Amino acid sequence: MKISDRTASFSYAIRDVLAVAAEVESQGHRVIKLNIGDPIKYGFKTPKLLTESLKYAEEENYNFYADSQGLLEFREAIADYENSKYNLGITPKEVVATAGVSEGIQMTFMAFTNPKDRTLVPGIHYPSYSGNSNIFKLDTQYYKTVVEDNFYPDPDHIRSLMTENTKLVFLNSPNNPTGSVYPEKIIKEIVDIVGEYDACIVSDETYDKLILDDGLEHIATAKVAKDVPVIAYNGFSKVFLAPGWRLGYAYYHDPEGKIEEPWEGLQKLTRLRLSASTPLQKAGTEALKKDQSSYLPETVKQLRDRRDLMYGRLAEMDGINVYKPEAAFYIFPILELEKFKWKDDKEFVFDFLRKKHVLSVFGSGFGPFGDSGFRMVYLPTLEEIDIAMNRLEDLLNENRI
Ligand SMILES: Cc1ncc(COP(=O)(O)O)c(C=O)c1O
Repeated sequence: MKISDRTASFSYAIRDVLAVAAEVESQGHRVIKLNIGDPIKYGFKTPKLLTESLKYAEEENYNFYADSQGLLEFREAIADYENSKYNLGITPKEVVATAGVSEGIQMTFMAFTNPKDRTLVPGIHYPSYSGNSNIFKLDTQYYKTVVEDNFYPDPDHIRSLMTENTKLVFLNSPNNPTGSVYPEKIIKEIVDIVGEYDACIVSDETYDKLILDDGLEHIATAKVAKDVPVIAYNGFSKVFLAPGWRLGYAYYHDPEGKIEEPWEGLQKLTRLRLSASTPLQKAGTEALKKDQSSYLPETVKQLRDRRDLMYGRLAEMDGINVYKPEAAFYIFPILELEKFKWKDDKEFVFDFLRKKHVLSVFGSGFGPFGDSGFRMVYLPTLEEIDIAMNRLEDLLNENRI
C-alpha cells in the first residue's frame, strides 16, 4: 500500500532532524540537543502543585470518561483563570478541553475549513499550523515576519493576502520559534483587517506567562478583538511545565455569533474522541486553584539567565543577525549566508550536527521566511549553552568565505 497523499504532503522539521542526530550518536558522539521545546527533557521539574493534584485526582477515582467538551469543573476553572488574567468575561460554555493545544489546532481546521479555503500563518511559525493546513488541502499563505521588524506580523502584507475564501488567520504571541511578543497596536490592526471578512482569528497563546522582560505585557487577542471572532488556545505544556500531560483547551470570543455554527461543529467533533483525559482535567482543575508563585517567577528567572547568555554570545558572532527573544525559550538567529560556505540553512544545520555535535532545527522548517535561519532552545544549563556556543563560533570561523 502507499502512504496517503494527505500524509505525504507535510513534514515536521523539529522531529525530522532527530534521525541524523541518532546517526551521529551511533558513532559514539554525545550530541547537545537544542531542538525540542520540552523543559522537562532539560531538567526542569513539573511543579508540585500539579503532581500533587494528579495524585488527588487518582485518589478521587477520576478515571471515567468525561463529557466530550470537558469536565464542567475544568471548564469553570479555565474560564476563571483566563478571566482573572485578561478580564475577558468568558463562560465555561465557551471552553473546550483538548489533548494539548495540538488537538485544538487540528479540530479547528476540521470544523472551520473546506479544501481550498485560505489560511494565513506567520512567515516563520510553529509547524503544526501549516502541517494541518496542508493535510486539510487548504491554500496556505505565509505573511511577512522578518528579523528587521522584530518578527512582528506585517499587517499590510496580511491585508494583501486576505480574500473572500480566507477562513483562519493564525497569530502566535509569544511566538515559537522567534520569541517575539506582538504589540497591542499590531494585533489591533490585524483585528480590523480580519473584521472586514467572513474570517476568524486563531490566537495561540501557549507561552503567555513566560514573558522574560519587565514591563512587557502579553496581549490576549480576545481582549482587543471587539466584534471580530477569535479562537484562543492555551494549555499545560509550557507555562505549567507539564508537556507530557497532553492537556490544553480552546475558548472562543464571538460577541456577534459569527462562528456559532463551526464552533458547534468543533464541539461535535470532540465526541468522536469521547473525551480528553479525565484525571488530567481534574488535576488541572485543582492546580488552577493554587498559587503559581511557588514556581513561575523562578522558572522565568532561569529562562531569562539562559536567554541572556545565548543571546549575548550570538550577538557577538560575525555573520549572525539575532533578535533578542522576549519570551518562551526559543531563539531564531539569521545567518548571513553570503559570508559562509553553506548554500542554505539545511546544509548549515547538518554541518553543525555532524561536525560539532550540536542539534538545532533548520529555519525553512518553520516556513518560507525562515529559510536563512535556524532555531535553538535555550533550555539547557548555562554550562551546556556556553559549550554549544563555543562550538558554533568555531564552526562559523572554519566556514567563512
Ligand atoms: C506555539 C505552540 N503551540 C502549540 C504547541 C503544542 O502544544 P501542546 O503540547 O499543548 O499540544 C506548541 C509546542 O511546542 C507550540 O510551541
